[in-house]
Amino acid sequence: MRILFGSGSHWKLNRKLASSITWREGSQKAFEAMFRREMDAILPNLSKPGPMCLSDVIRPYIVNVIVTVLRGHRYPDDDPEMQHLLKVLTRLDDVDLSSMSTLLALAFPRASSKLCPSSPNLHAISSDMQSVVRGWIKPDAPTRTDKDSTLISTFTQSEEYKDQNTDDKEMVQSMLDMFFGGVTSSMSVIEYLVLFLVHDPKLQTRIQEEIHRVIGKRQVTLEDREKLPLVEASIIETLRIGSITTSSLPHVSVEDTQIGDYHIPKGTSVVASLYSLHRDPKHFPEPEVFKPERHIDANGVVTRPKSFLPFGVGPRLCVGDTMVRVGVFMFFTTIMQNYTITPVEVGSPPPFSSRLRIVRRLEPYQVLLVPRDSELKDTN
Ligand code: HEM
Repeated sequence: MRILFGSGSHWKLNRKLASSITWREGSQKAFEAMFRREMDAILPNLSKPGPMCLSDVIRPYIVNVIVTVLRGHRYPDDDPEMQHLLKVLTRLDDVDLSSMSTLLALAFPRASSKLCPSSPNLHAISSDMQSVVRGWIKPDAPTRTDKDSTLISTFTQSEEYKDQNTDDKEMVQSMLDMFFGGVTSSMSVIEYLVLFLVHDPKLQTRIQEEIHRVIGKRQVTLEDREKLPLVEASIIETLRIGSITTSSLPHVSVEDTQIGDYHIPKGTSVVASLYSLHRDPKHFPEPEVFKPERHIDANGVVTRPKSFLPFGVGPRLCVGDTMVRVGVFMFFTTIMQNYTITPVEVGSPPPFSSRLRIVRRLEPYQVLLVPRDSELKDTN
């Protein structure tokens, strides 16, 4: 059991503990501070001239935010364990979850190296990651902190958890759910958002003008969010059209149910297609077109239609929604404030080719980041 594919009392408790961190009072401000610290660290690395794969640059910073939520500390630069985690994540980026070889490897773990020698050994990766997390939760771990705002301390201080569990398996697995779910989905939404803007330089200019008008050169804060409707609407439109999680997790109906013409007997597995929901032309005219303005009303206020559900709905709603929305806003606004992103070859932006990893991810692509200061000087 655990959070992502768990059920019953173990899932309920694991979810309660995880969401007590991500949804607690003050969590938005805490996430803002974490992302601000990472943005300060990231900016110098973005200034290097030449083509760059933005995902490679931002991965360590996203890892650091998630790791801080889990155990209360970020990694120092060049930490060997961080390098190890980055390698694991890069290898997992190569795993296509819809391919037959991956499915075979998951179904027959012992034979997987013979059946599919080219696939990364997912079971070995999983047990390796479990030992990394066990290192974090050891009572004498140098990085262990018992501040009540980390996921580790929330688990270890929960009497309910101790009553239900005699070992740390559930806690370790929930930490891994949060780690992989958090890192890969955050990366994916940023990769999509940046590529949409590389394809639409006019929109990029309008976003930069909005940021310039509202915050100028000072650091962005969360309070700026409602004064930056085009920024916010672009994030919403990315979550709609990117459909990073194309469906909900599998759910099971707890009683006989009727939805429209469909009778769903108790015990049926049900998966909601968020992809279809977000591309329904009844709710989103010209659904394939990236159009942030569709989320801004006549008064310039951002709207979220009922049929916009990128994080799911109900008792299994994503527990990372607040964190990711704060992070993407801080990251995106800071990048647009400081850089213009262009294709490496003029007029030939990378294509939107995607594959199913843990979530839907774009194929790695390269872009150029032009510092806005130099851009402004050139036009003077
Ligand atoms: C843009 C980013 C993200 C998207 C689009 C997303 C989307 C989703 C969706 C659709 C679900 C399933 C809801 C359902 O089955 O009804 C889900 C569940 C979940 N997400 Fe996210 N997520 C994102 C970011 C994150 C982050 C940053 C974390 C953690 C740090 C996270 C942790 C989880 C967990 C633990 C669950 C399982 C909840 C449960 O079953 O009780 N997600 N997410």
